[in-house]
Amino acid sequence: MNRDIEKILIHEDVIDKRIRELGAIIERDFNENGIDVITVIIIMKGALLFSADLIRYIDKKVTVDCINASSYKGGTSSLGTIDIDHVPNVLNKDVLLIDDILDTGLTMSTVRNVLLDAGAASVTTCCLLDKDIAQDRCDYCGFHIPNEFVVGYGLDFQGHYRNLSYIGVLKISGISDTSSIK
Ligand code: IMP
Ligand code: MG
Repeated sequence: MNRDIEKILIHEDVIDKRIRELGAIIERDFNENGIDVITVIIIMKGALLFSADLIRYIDKKVTVDCINASSYKGGTSSLGTIDIDHVPNVLNKDVLLIDDILDTGLTMSTVRNVLLDAGAASVTTCCLLDKDIAQDRCDYCGFHIPNEFVVGYGLDFQGHYRNLSYIGVLKISGISDTSSIK
């Protein structure tokens, strides 16, 4: 285990099993809704690993694009405003919007509205994790977690720890801006 990690919250094999289940559920639901092609939009960079694994378990026609959205600016709590760069072409597309984690829910709802404004036919939301305190829910979620700052499997602190194969809680000593920990 990485020495900056206090404890492992979700092990690699548990993540893999849940992502297989989610892929199968999403595939079934899109089929039932008569959707042939899924336009996957990945919220970078946190959802990169999750999305790469998830789409391999969806046996349908899929296109992939990404969008940059950030609210944390290197800290450990949401700043309440979301920066979004270039919006992909989603006109008349059925979008599966994927993020790593729902905290306040602001990132997901902001990006979802931006894509609907850009003419998406539908936007279905999916995240790997959501925190107990999240005010919104997404359509598909891997795991509910307590209100702790987590890293690994795509999630970062100041750009680090994305490459861990599990989800873990960072030691307080690994966090430099402890004043902003919720
Ligand atoms: P929200 O907008 O408050 O829902 O925050 C969601 C975004 O903040 C996600 O896209 C993540 O990038 C980031 N985030 C929220 N909680 C964590 C965490 O515990 N670890 C790492 N990133 C997080
Ligand atoms: Mg993010």
